[in-house]
Amino acid sequence: MEFDVIQRVSLIDPPAAVNLHTWHLEGTNLVESLKRLGDLPGIFRDARAFALMDPDTVVYRVQAYMPTTEGTEGGLYFGTTVIEPGTVGGEYFMTRGHSHARADRAEFYWGVKGQGVLLLLTPGGTIRAERISAGSLHYIDANTAHRVANTGDEPLIFGASWPSDAGHNYAEIASQGFGARVVIGASGTPEIIVV
Ligand SMILES: [Fe+2]
Repeated sequence: MEFDVIQRVSLIDPPAAVNLHTWHLEGTNLVESLKRLGDLPGIFRDARAFALMDPDTVVYRVQAYMPTTEGTEGGLYFGTTVIEPGTVGGEYFMTRGHSHARADRAEFYWGVKGQGVLLLLTPGGTIRAERISAGSLHYIDANTAHRVANTGDEPLIFGASWPSDAGHNYAEIASQGFGARVVIGASGTPEIIVV
C-alpha cells in the first residue's frame, strides 16, 4: 500500500530507562544522592546507639529522573530509593522524611522489593502507616509528610513519582519530628509507636 507521506518522524530511544528487576535508572538528567548515618543526625531516637555506629554506614540511596527544571509547574519526576536493612537502637533504618515545599502537591510511591513501612503525617497530627511490599501502591495525599522505614532484612526498594514543582521541605520534620517511630517490637516484629 502506498501512503501519501508528508514527513517521516524518526523513532528514537527515550533518554532514560528503568531496570524492571532492580528499578535502577539509567540515562540522562539523572540526579543521585546517598545518605550515610553521619548525614542523618537527630532522626533516630537512641542518640547513644547512633553515636556508637560507623557514620559511614550507608542508609539509603536515591536516584531521580528529572527531565524538567525543578519548580516547573505541570512537570513530573520519577525516582527510585533503596534503603539498606539495619537498625539504630532497635529503630529501623529510614529516610529523613519530608513534606513538600508546595504542600498541596501529592505523590505516588510503589513497592518494588523488600518490606517496609510508609509513615504519613497530616498537618493536624494524624499519623497513618501503610505496609510497603513488592507491588504495593501508595497515594500520598497533598499536605501529608512522608517517611519510609525498611523493616526487612534485605534492601527495601521503592519507586516514586511527584510533581516537578513540589519541592522538599525537610526542616519541618527535622524540627518537629514525625510523631511516630517504626521499631522492633517485643515479639521481634515491626511495631509503630507514637512518641
Ligand atoms: Fe515527597
